[in-house]
Amino acid sequence: MTLRHFLRDDDLTPDEQREVLDRALALKADPFSDRCLEGPQTVSILFDKQTLRTQVSFVGAVSGLGGFPMVVDGRLAGVGVREPVADVARILGRQSAAVVWRTFEQAKLEEMAEYAGVPVVNALTDDFHPCQTLADLLTVRELLGDLAGRTLAYVGDGANNMAHSYLLASATAGVHVRVGAPPSHQPSAAVVARAEEIAARTGASVLVTDDAVTAVRGADVVATDTWVSMGQEEESDTRHGTDGPFEPFRVDEALMAQAADHAVFLHCLPAYRGHEVTSAVIDGPRSHVWQEAENRLHAQKALLSWLLEHSEVSA
Ligand code: CP
Repeated sequence: MTLRHFLRDDDLTPDEQREVLDRALALKADPFSDRCLEGPQTVSILFDKQTLRTQVSFVGAVSGLGGFPMVVDGRLAGVGVREPVADVARILGRQSAAVVWRTFEQAKLEEMAEYAGVPVVNALTDDFHPCQTLADLLTVRELLGDLAGRTLAYVGDGANNMAHSYLLASATAGVHVRVGAPPSHQPSAAVVARAEEIAARTGASVLVTDDAVTAVRGADVVATDTWVSMGQEEESDTRHGTDGPFEPFRVDEALMAQAADHAVFLHCLPAYRGHEVTSAVIDGPRSHVWQEAENRLHAQKALLSWLLEHSEVSA
C-alpha cells in the first residue's frame, strides 16, 4: 500500500513540489475542475491551536474538491489526552479520506500518520508549517515567475516553524534561502543540515546569519512572522520588549530598501504591526499578504488532490 503524507516540507521531492504548485495554479484558474472527493468523502480537520486562515482554507479546499470538511475542535476531542493518538488515528482513518491536523508536537503528527491509513497533512506544528510555505511559493511564482535561482530572506524568530519550513521548502524549490535571526533564536541545526543537503541537489544555497541586513541584501522575497508563536504567550513581554532579541529584525522600510528593487514582502499572518513588521511595509505596495493568504486555499486543494492520487488506501 502506498500512502503519501505531508508532515514536513521535504516530504515532497523537487519534482513533486513543482507538480503540486502547477496543480494549484490550474485549480486557481478553474476552481471546480477537480472533484476527487466527490461523494462527498469526509476529510477530518483537527485544531489543537487557534486558527483562521488554515480552517477557512481547508474547509474551502475540501468543499471545492467535492468533499465534506469535518472540523474537529481538538480541545473537545482531546487527541492524545482523552485517548491515545494511535486510537484516534484508527478511528478517523476509517471514516475519512484524509486527516489534517494542527497540533504542538511533530512526533504526535507522525504517530497520526503511522496509524491513520490515509494521507495525513500538517496544518502547523511547533516545528513546521509546510502548507503555508507551499502557498508562499505559489505566490512568489505568480509574482516573480520561475522559483529556481530566486532568493528568499526570512528575518525574525529563526527557531520557529516558519523559519524551518522556509529552509526546507525553499531549498526544495531551488530558491536560495537566508535566515536572519538573533543568536538566541537560530534554526535547528538538523533542519539547516537537511536544507543544505537538498540545496546541494537543487542548486539552491542556505545562509543563516545574525545580521538582518546580510540576510535581506538583494533578496527577491522578504518574509517574517510573529515573534511570539502559539504556545509562547508567557514569553510575550521579553520577546516584544524594546531591549528584546528581535528588535534589530523588524521589517521596516529601511530594511526593505536593502532588498532588490522588485522585492516582495510576505507574512503568513496574523501580523503584529509595530513588532515584527511596520504598517508602512505590510500595508505598502510591496506587500502581497492577502494574495498569500488566499493562496492557502489553492495550494491545499492541489496538495490534497495530489496526495490522494498518489496514495492507495486499503478498504
Ligand atoms: N497563517 C496561518 O496559519 O493562519 P492561521 O493561524 O489563522 O490558521
